[in-house]
Amino acid sequence: MENNKAILNTGLRGVTIASTRISDVIGDVGKLIYRGYLVQDLAQHASFEEVAYLLLYETLPDKDQLQTFEADLTSERHIPNEMITALKTIPKNALPMDVLQSSISMLACHDTGIQETSRDAFYRMAIRLTAKIPTIIASWHRIRSNQEPILPSAELDHAANFLYMLKGAVPDDEIARFFDVALILHAEHSFNASTFAAREVASTRAHIYAAVSAAVGSLSGELHGGANVRVMQMLLEIGSLAGVETYVKETLNAGKKIMGLGHAVYQTDDPRAHILAPMSKAMGEKTGATQWYEISTQLEKTAKAAFKQLKGRDIYVNVDFYSGSLYYNMGIPVDLFTPVFAIARIVGWAAHVLEERFGDAAPKPMLYRPESEYTGDYCGPDECKFIALEKR
Ligand SMILES: CC(C)(COP(=O)(O)OP(=O)(O)OC[C@H]1O[C@@H](n2cnc3c(N)ncnc32)[C@H](O)[C@@H]1OP(=O)(O)O)[C@@H](O)C(=O)NCCC(=O)NCCS
Repeated sequence: MENNKAILNTGLRGVTIASTRISDVIGDVGKLIYRGYLVQDLAQHASFEEVAYLLLYETLPDKDQLQTFEADLTSERHIPNEMITALKTIPKNALPMDVLQSSISMLACHDTGIQETSRDAFYRMAIRLTAKIPTIIASWHRIRSNQEPILPSAELDHAANFLYMLKGAVPDDEIARFFDVALILHAEHSFNASTFAAREVASTRAHIYAAVSAAVGSLSGELHGGANVRVMQMLLEIGSLAGVETYVKETLNAGKKIMGLGHAVYQTDDPRAHILAPMSKAMGEKTGATQWYEISTQLEKTAKAAFKQLKGRDIYVNVDFYSGSLYYNMGIPVDLFTPVFAIARIVGWAAHVLEERFGDAAPKPMLYRPESEYTGDYCGPDECKFIALEKR
């Protein structure tokens, strides 16, 4: 049999595979909308907890609903002692995203209601995951630094509590709010790679931990959540304003990518970058390390112009371009930037798993099962005949 089929490696670009009521990314005008609200509006006025409620429960909470939700999150922050013991057995140089992914599966093992499939059970698990992921990441960082994990504080909100558990000091209000806003901006982004992974796993009727574990694996890649780490490594490599021009020229001439630029959906600057940039600037001024923001703005200008000259079209900044320098000046270790992304995105993943399982879309979502085109061999007109090992 001849096989002359075309290779269709499109990465599903432009293919609509499901309906969602959670968020919309309007790429040509640079709008990101969570359940009808512009992300800029939420970042300016809401807390991460309010946005998490909005994404999970479809409406903004009233005072009582918010209080109950915050109390539920706070009461779920602890992780089992057995998990702390298990974390202590992991090699200290393990990649934090691998530690997080294994820990999500461990949480499933410790969930006594793991086989429950009701909507309430899924919400309970979504809240557990949202509450415990920051504790896992902070605990792992302490353990690998030969320090004891710090117990969560019930006095602090979600953002401040993570920074406290990570560094052992309560952050000042401005820093806590910067982190809170960064979490809001990273909470949801429609059918990106990790959310698609979560929904695909959820479509098999696997539990939410399995879906979230797959999503964490997907987020770890440098073209997705790993890009913020690569952005900071790039800024450190450039080192000073004087190094920007050469870096851009050499990178583009070598056909390599400049991290934090380009996006599969936006055809303009990512609106989240415009909120992160001033926070990165303010954070630099607070710590006295203004160079990372300065290098970033110079790099943005130079790279955009050089890309236009080279390719005859525009390229734009994405969410990762300014988040790296913001987190760096907050004292978050570079290799925790992607796990920090997961602290926010767990809410989006959970909302999508809930929608996949319990949403009111008609027709209901089906098991994901795309087709592929086989472009391999058939050994002539018929299929290949098996050759015994000794004859190969
Ligand atoms: C995010 C990303 C994968 C988007 O992918 P995409 O829209 O499918 O774009 P492609 O990777 O197919 O690239 C399209 C073209 O733009 C170029 N390009 C895209 N992003 C680029 C970047 N950051 N630096 C330099 N060139 C870039 C590609 O080389 C390609 O050029 P060509 O058409 O001449 O071959 C891509 O822009 C990228 O790798 N960016 C860097 C990593 C990053 O910041 N990721 C975080 C995303 S939120």
